[in-house]
Amino acid sequence: MAQVSKVIIVTGGASGIGFAFTEHLARLGHRLVIADVRGADEAAARLSAQGLAAVGVAVDVSSEQDAAAMVEAACAQYGGLDALVNNAAVFANLSLKPFDQIPKDEWMTVMQINAMGPFLCAKAAVPALRRQGGGRIINIASTTAIKGTPHMLHYVASKGAVIAFTRALARELGNDNITVNAIAPGFTLSDGVLQNDLHNKIGDTARKGARSIQRDQVPGDLVGALAFLISDGAGFITGQTLAVDGGSVFL
Ligand SMILES: NC(=O)c1ccc[n+]([C@@H]2O[C@H](COP(=O)([O-])OP(=O)(O)OC[C@H]3O[C@@H](n4cnc5c(N)ncnc54)[C@H](O)[C@@H]3O)[C@@H](O)[C@H]2O)c1
Repeated sequence: MAQVSKVIIVTGGASGIGFAFTEHLARLGHRLVIADVRGADEAAARLSAQGLAAVGVAVDVSSEQDAAAMVEAACAQYGGLDALVNNAAVFANLSLKPFDQIPKDEWMTVMQINAMGPFLCAKAAVPALRRQGGGRIINIASTTAIKGTPHMLHYVASKGAVIAFTRALARELGNDNITVNAIAPGFTLSDGVLQNDLHNKIGDTARKGARSIQRDQVPGDLVGALAFLISDGAGFITGQTLAVDGGSVFL
């Protein structure tokens, strides 16, 4: 059966894993809104140049006003909304440090963007998803929350919050025909990771040693899981966290 073209917002969709998501979904025929604090228009132009349907919106996911404007832009451009992908986060530019050396302000920034951001975006998106008769929310978590990875306590705690948020919101939205799931990537060579040399700081063994498939993970390894969770065939899966990490953790 032909795939139905859906309207999908991807936060943090201008670079890294988020751009791999937008590009893959647009190639499948979906219509994309790239919502990012920087580079959204440029990323959308890269897709439009390939004949794909994408618009960019400048959005800080920790702003309630921006989240509302993002959903309005999607509805104005495409006439409705079918899915929200909460991908934006602070990660690669965080320095690794023991928990008692994390300043309070840094903790708050990570929580505001990584945990409150998905909440504000979901709050803005759900009325539009309800108007469509249902939809999808997919939150990008991290296997660090399952492993208890040390030296980034704020980040790990924020991703634990994303997993718990996914479960509780799934229960609240089940009767609206809106599924809520999470994808937990393993350590991935994204733009942010490469620019900050984080892969070398973490080291070869920490990156790959515990994996069943012992190679580096790249953004393209994650796109199939997202497309599946957005597809019509995944409509009875909700509240779940899918680890995509080469078989390091087993949920
Ligand atoms: N790279 C990894 O190893 C890894 C592993 C597990 C989970 N993740 C998660 O995957 C997602 C993408 O990670 P990545 O490595 O591609 O990151 P990245 O730093 O390469 O890209 C993050 C994107 O989010 C945007 N962004 C940051 N703050 C924002 C804000 N306040 N509002 C809107 N956009 C904002 C950035 O501009 C950027 O485009 C994140 O949720 C991250 O936590 C990454």
